[in-house]
Amino acid sequence: MDPLQAKQQMTLAEFRSLRDFIYAKSGIFFNESKQYFLENRLSKRLGELGLRTYGDYLSLLQGSQGPAELKRLFVEITTNETSFWRNPPQIEAFQNIVLPEAAKLARERGQTRLRIWSAACSSGEEPYTLAMICHELRDTALRGFTVEILATDISEKVLAQAQDGVYNAYTLRNLTPEQLQRHFLTLGRDLFQVKPDLQRYTAFRNFNLVDYGGYRTLGSFDVIFCRNVLIYFDEAVKGQVLKGFHAQLHPHAYLLVGHSESIHAFNTGFELLHFSKAMGYRKRA
Ligand SMILES: C[S@@+](CC[C@H](N)C(=O)[O-])C[C@H]1O[C@@H](n2cnc3c(N)ncnc32)[C@H](O)[C@@H]1O
Repeated sequence: MDPLQAKQQMTLAEFRSLRDFIYAKSGIFFNESKQYFLENRLSKRLGELGLRTYGDYLSLLQGSQGPAELKRLFVEITTNETSFWRNPPQIEAFQNIVLPEAAKLARERGQTRLRIWSAACSSGEEPYTLAMICHELRDTALRGFTVEILATDISEKVLAQAQDGVYNAYTLRNLTPEQLQRHFLTLGRDLFQVKPDLQRYTAFRNFNLVDYGGYRTLGSFDVIFCRNVLIYFDEAVKGQVLKGFHAQLHPHAYLLVGHSESIHAFNTGFELLHFSKAMGYRKRA
């Protein structure tokens, strides 16, 4: 088809129907100022599929090819920005306070496995940062524990990147030369891969945070990281997601959200913790 046709404008009615569909499937809510964002992200896909209108695209999503196309839609519409050591004060609080305390609580419960969930892990920088810290503490605070970092996302594309664990030097700029040498293999002048030693802490899988019935299948956690994704959700979805986290956390276990994300309005089941230059939450018993 003529690619120019695919660039045709999305009507307001099409935008609203697509927006409501996306919200129902992912919890991501686009307000009306985001019409052009959706148009930009989806016009190429329309061209690839040979579709003329966004209405046709929605029909495809609702039809028998819908489940497969939904995966593509999630790849196109998600914002996957992330970095190693993102929000350093919070990561330091994790290393110095949260992790040792979580291990202490787990030990008291008789656990030998410590489980961390990186919910919305994007291309892996967050879970690998956590894995580096766990590796450092394996003979001290984490002595006697097997650590499992479950890392989930809704985008198959970033999950595949995370699983590969291959990053360029720019992406790895926040690591010290020692961390780079200790945890990464050099593949080329500008390409490095996470060593198996670090990779074995992590398990990647697709999980949609609006799959409220699915949380139980993930098991219980000592720490949940859910950073920089709640901002895409409205209050109703945030409330449900936080309920899901609450149910999967052990008593007094930790929840760390993005620095601009507050769960103030929903925090009935959590207490707010003030760390040096960072905040966190802990499940009330
Ligand atoms: C901005 S990134 C944040 C990555 C990382 N947590 C961080 O703070 O650096 C947001 C991620 O949330 C994911 N996401 C969006 N909606 C989701 C949903 N309903 N379920 C699971 N992941 C979702 C996106 O695919 C994206 O990779």
